Amino acid sequence: MSRIFLSSPDVGLLEREALLRAFDSGWVAPAGPELDAFESDVAAITGWPGAVAMSSGTGALHLALLEQGVQPGNDVLVSSFTFAATANAVAYCGATPIFIDSDTATWNMSPQLLAEELAAAKRRNRLPAAVVVVDLYGQCADYDEIVPACHELGIPVVEDAAEALGATYKGRPAGALADTGVFSFNGNKIITTSGGGMFVSPDIDAASRVRHLATQARRPATHYEHTEIGYNYRLSNLLAALGRAQLQRLHVMSQRRLQINERYRELLAGVPGLSFMPIAPWGGWNGWLTCVVFDDVVARDAVQRALNDNDIESRPLWKPMHLQPVFAEASARVDGTSEYLFDHGMCLPSGSVLTDDQIDFVATVACEAAQR
Ligand SMILES: Cc1ncc(COP(=O)(O)O)c(C=O)c1O
Repeated sequence: MSRIFLSSPDVGLLEREALLRAFDSGWVAPAGPELDAFESDVAAITGWPGAVAMSSGTGALHLALLEQGVQPGNDVLVSSFTFAATANAVAYCGATPIFIDSDTATWNMSPQLLAEELAAAKRRNRLPAAVVVVDLYGQCADYDEIVPACHELGIPVVEDAAEALGATYKGRPAGALADTGVFSFNGNKIITTSGGGMFVSPDIDAASRVRHLATQARRPATHYEHTEIGYNYRLSNLLAALGRAQLQRLHVMSQRRLQINERYRELLAGVPGLSFMPIAPWGGWNGWLTCVVFDDVVARDAVQRALNDNDIESRPLWKPMHLQPVFAEASARVDGTSEYLFDHGMCLPSGSVLTDDQIDFVATVACEAAQR
């Protein structure tokens, strides 16, 4: 059996033809009709009018923060349990991240710890300029708790939905649950443009400003007039064509990932001390990665080793940002939740290209190693 990857791109004839069509159209340029159409397609998913296709989710987060007015020296509250890109975008703005731990119910930002930190910030007379909430592993955070608590103090909320395209919260689409949202189309995400991202907003003017910043902040003059610092963050027309083809299959690919999760749940049901990422009552998880937690760290390590020995890729859960050396100086409001998950958890191969036989093989290897 060839190597089993965690989450490899699921692309085929549809995507190949879309790419070649864009190529043959002559729009082998940064801009073009596929780019506009891709933005409209994603805008339609969110129900918001503003969408700007970018070269990465990280770039989209950076400009989302700038658009919310984050400036050097500001504080920004950020989920600690996430990929580094979320916190890096804060650092790009010259702002300081303050990390908030997860709750055990969803592994997303704890509304209670957030409320405690907001109260402390109020007492310090130093409110954060923004809050960045992550929809971890494709499941939405509890926005009905988080957004009002921030808005009451006039603090904007950015939704890092990099992993959550296609997910919903109480029937509302991920990405459109706060003041602005961000998606990633990196190679390991639920859809991919090989690399790319999207900024989304309910405000068409905000989207225009972000599009301007992402295009080197060029004023419309033949000599390129610049009145502010810009960025080269736009997605290309060719990659947008790939993204549009992938979007047509988003639902099918998400359903396949959910099926894979169900299969793991059946096959691993007998493993003592193993539990799955909790699925929140508000539903709508997109199935991005199947994550499990072992009561016993020794069993987790044994499973990881056995998978690796059998040419199966797995990965620990995210190392919390407050434990990362690069953010050692940052403050954090934590209660041990994400640290426990990092120590005890792992992600299993979950890509929509995986066959049932491959999932069965992963589960067999994991079961044997956990019970040895
Ligand atoms: C939670 C989270 N935020 C941001 C990003 C950054 O996205 P990109 O890789 O497209 O820059 C990722 C993934 O890579 C992510 O998982």
